[in-house]
Amino acid sequence: MKALEGIKILDFTHVQSGPTCTQLLAWFGADVIKVERPGVGDATRKQLVDVPGADSLYFTMLNHNKRSITINTKSEVGKEILTRLVKECDVLVENFAPSALDRMGFGWEEIQKINPRMIMASVKGFGPGKYEDCKVYENVAQCAGGSASTTGFPDDVPLVTGAQIGDSGTGLHLALGICVALIQRTTTGKGQRVLAPMQDGVLNLCRVKLRDQQRLERGPLKEYSQYGRGEAFGIATPRAGNDSGGGQPGRILKCKGWETDPNSYTYFITQAAVWKSVCEVIGKPEWKDDPDFATPEARLPRLDLIFSTIEEWTKSKTKFEVMDICNPLNIPVGPILSMKELAEDESLRATGTIVEVDHPERGQYTTVGCPIKLSDSQVEVVRSPLLGEHTKEILTTVLGYQGPELDMVIRSGAVGEVH
Ligand code: COA
Repeated sequence: MKALEGIKILDFTHVQSGPTCTQLLAWFGADVIKVERPGVGDATRKQLVDVPGADSLYFTMLNHNKRSITINTKSEVGKEILTRLVKECDVLVENFAPSALDRMGFGWEEIQKINPRMIMASVKGFGPGKYEDCKVYENVAQCAGGSASTTGFPDDVPLVTGAQIGDSGTGLHLALGICVALIQRTTTGKGQRVLAPMQDGVLNLCRVKLRDQQRLERGPLKEYSQYGRGEAFGIATPRAGNDSGGGQPGRILKCKGWETDPNSYTYFITQAAVWKSVCEVIGKPEWKDDPDFATPEARLPRLDLIFSTIEEWTKSKTKFEVMDICNPLNIPVGPILSMKELAEDESLRATGTIVEVDHPERGQYTTVGCPIKLSDSQVEVVRSPLLGEHTKEILTTVLGYQGPELDMVIRSGAVGEVH
């Protein structure tokens, strides 16, 4: 038994944000039926192709455990099939450009008429307001949601981050919204609309930066590097480089081999509770009781000196040696791990967060499995579907098409090529 067993998802998602959401729901046991345009499919199938003729990693890594049906939803027969799918399914998930579903004839009003129990969940770039009609991709969301203005170094341009907080982050928000709407439906008996705008999702993840915006209005942000350097703050939360927020200052520091290895670095946090151990480790025992260094408040204006001294020590160790020495002393440090190192990580492989998957067109590839672990709902990562691989199966077993009716649907061309 899986957590979402019995829940049917009509998956109208494409690219990254929506597919992230429906992949999670599939991992938790929902039957995810991905609807794609005949002969075309999700655009990412053929983007960033690394194996000619095969579905790309972009697609395969976001669409595990789903079934694919191809339907031209703008044809009459296609609309009829879609109507039957809406009646059968519990949730419709989509991340089309604004109003695309209305243009298709399946807006919220229509969906409610067909199936009042249906939950209709959408990712959009922006919520209601002046930008609601805009198409949005990852980096636009990072910029519009406050991440870019607060990422990077203060004296340099705004920076986007490699973590896909706009797409995958919003997909996560949407998955939560769907799950709680399913719970609410058990008491109300009704579906509802779930909307996760990407701008709002990014802003939610940048919550601490809005905290800092308000703190800044009352005085300088003492944990930011600018403070110790005597640099003026502007009117908005600045970019903080690699400073860690909160009361536990941290930086990225060079480790042995940094001259040739771009990832020979560690994150090092001078947590107040273990300050004395930090002093011992880096060979500065006199800082333990020196009033200029002994308290967190005294250290704040001296962070450049403190971290350059710690870096002299980290430069003499590999990032893993730093970890081995600091961990037993409870000093929080983190090696900068490359994608190569992560892909080979034994623990991540043992827990199923890194998995190998076989694919008929591309052979074996490595992917990220489900990062959320439930003790009573185990996840087995199943390869992504080929385009329209399950069209006939869904038409017959989910929708009950048979005999002449099935022949008519196939002959109409509304479902593309059927295998
Ligand atoms: N049969 C027939 N038509 C179909 C179809 C099917 N099975 N599936 C999709 N279509 C049509 C849609 O109805 C739409 O047609 P229309 O514009 O004539 O009404 C069209 O295909 C394209 O949809 P759209 O969403 O506009 O795709 P796009 O490639 O132009 O835009 C995005 C892509 C991501 C920018 C846009 O979908 C978007 O802004 N989405 C919301 C935010 C989002 O999720 N962004 C992150 C993506 S990771």
